[in-house]
Amino acid sequence: MKRVLVVHFSQTGQLARVARRLVSPLAEAGDVELVEEVLRPRQPYPFPWPAWRFLDVMPETVLLEPPELEPLSVRAEELFDLVILAYQVWYLAPSGPITAFLKGEAGKRLLRGRPVVTVIACRNMWLVAQETVKQLIREAGGRLRDNVAFIDEGRALATFITTPRWVLTGRRNAFWGLPAAGVAEEQIANSDRFGRALLAGLRADRERVDAPMLAGLGAACVDPQLIFSERAAQRAFSVWSRLIRLGGAPGSIGRLPLLAAFCVYLVAMILTVVPTSLLLQWVTRPLLKRRLRSLQAYYELPSGR
Ligand SMILES: Cc1cc2nc3c(=O)[nH]c(=O)nc-3n(C[C@H](O)[C@H](O)[C@H](O)COP(=O)(O)O)c2cc1C
Repeated sequence: MKRVLVVHFSQTGQLARVARRLVSPLAEAGDVELVEEVLRPRQPYPFPWPAWRFLDVMPETVLLEPPELEPLSVRAEELFDLVILAYQVWYLAPSGPITAFLKGEAGKRLLRGRPVVTVIACRNMWLVAQETVKQLIREAGGRLRDNVAFIDEGRALATFITTPRWVLTGRRNAFWGLPAAGVAEEQIANSDRFGRALLAGLRADRERVDAPMLAGLGAACVDPQLIFSERAAQRAFSVWSRLIRLGGAPGSIGRLPLLAAFCVYLVAMILTVVPTSLLLQWVTRPLLKRRLRSLQAYYELPSGR
């Protein structure tokens, strides 16, 4: 009997649906015990997000200062053969509750010495967040075995509109010729192929071998056009986080002018820097081709496309 722990948190239920569908073959198998841990922040996050709260959560998320969680239902000393960690990205970092799990004593204990599969569902920018998650898994003594990434079905420019509309108003439907926000239903429905591969891997004890179990299944496909933009945006967010914190603790009035300036910066960046950087990359593509290809292969590890 193999024991598998799946950990997740979701505001709209999207990530919960992805995680549950993905592990459904394990849940149905008679020779696997699947334990689900749904993370619960002590102070729940609002959804839809008031614009002010949406901006105010940025500094602590980026600086990996997580919120407090309610105690886990699973006991920290329990042993699992595999841990599946599903998370969404907030401001190019793992969302607060997942950082809280990864940095908390109970979470670290559950991960120590265990093989870990990460599952991401976000708009489309997960590369630098996954670097952070890899580091936190390593620090906890876990070993990343596979990574599966699901992204919104819309193109990058369309989702700059559809994702903020979704999280700020709760509406995710298609409108004005733009696709619905979020991961496509078909992608979610097909995610059980990863669960079937994990089940086969567990039955063959492959979780104990230092090699991916989900190779060849299209687990993580990286858009090379986003690599440089993500890295540049993360550096900018990190500077803004430190600046905004000079205005005080989360929710304090002193942060207001700084958050307003950050909001102007965000909109200006989306309207000017993003299209310019895409154009520049298109022009310089022949020169950067090899570098981008090797970065793409790196970020697609360990499972590959
Ligand atoms: C505060 C906030 C920041 C976000 N930042 C990003 C981001 O940097 N990159 C990204 O791809 N998606 C980002 N998203 C979208 C989320 O990753 C996710 O797709 C969406 O919130 C739905 O997740 P859920 O399962 O919690 O409902 C952000 C969402 C929120 C609420």
